Amino acid sequence: MGEDDLKSMKLKISDANYIDIFEIKKNLKGPFIGKNIYYEEKVDSTNTLARELSVKGVKNGSVVISDYQEKGRGRNGKVWTSPCGCNIYMSIILKPKFSPEVAQGMTILAAVSVADAIVEVTSLKPQIKWPNDILIDSKKVSGILTEMSTQNMIIEHIIVGIGMNVNLEEKDIEDGIKDIATSLLIESKKINGSSILINRNKLIISILNKFDKYYEMFLSTGLSSVLQYYQKYFGMIGKEIEINIKDRRVKGQVVGIDSKGALLLKTGENELEKVVSGEIYL
Ligand code: BTN
Repeated sequence: MGEDDLKSMKLKISDANYIDIFEIKKNLKGPFIGKNIYYEEKVDSTNTLARELSVKGVKNGSVVISDYQEKGRGRNGKVWTSPCGCNIYMSIILKPKFSPEVAQGMTILAAVSVADAIVEVTSLKPQIKWPNDILIDSKKVSGILTEMSTQNMIIEHIIVGIGMNVNLEEKDIEDGIKDIATSLLIESKKINGSSILINRNKLIISILNKFDKYYEMFLSTGLSSVLQYYQKYFGMIGKEIEINIKDRRVKGQVVGIDSKGALLLKTGENELEKVVSGEIYL
């Protein structure tokens, strides 16, 4: 990043939409998430910094937030483009006592929390593309990367990384992904013509408070109660999809989600496939 980029970044940040950690902390209500927040103006990846902090011993529920990622990571080894001063890059560090088998549920919790926050802060209608892409009008606005470290089947930590395109302008979306990616600002402009920047602090506060609520629900009653909320945003029932499951490509019709968060796919007259993880092509 050159001098000019840095200057324009600072200008943009001071433009009413800077991330205010004091404001965020003041508004967090739940017992688990955000007691400690680590903010850096620039990081390689908030997930990487979160992992390093976790190894150093930071507490369960700590959160890492940054305004710019130089090496933002997406799922399946993809790059998560992370320009500065306009989006959300955040990682939640969890050190739970539950079994690694149920850890994938944290992605479901994060997806519902992000969708709820969009509804609370904007007038947009998010949908969830299984398992964890948040879409507005069929384009991706947010993604979640959950990473876990275990030893002898005991969880050392789970890092739930959330990336959200908030005030990204259309011209700043790379050509190759213009058809599939969007931001809250772009979609808000479409529905009400407003180009007022969306408040990232409010979104972060809302995501963290929702995550706290669903985490408590998950610990006391399991994933199935959270899935009731997930279903509200799950717009895929009945859709014909193709999905890459490891090295095979499977076609089928989406029937639903089971109690562990797996996708249920009708692949033939009497055949049902349960998909635990995979990449969907609509
Ligand atoms: C996806 O591929 O959909 C997941 C994208 C996850 C991006 C977020 S941004 C904050 C955190 N840090 C990263 O490097 N990745 C996640």
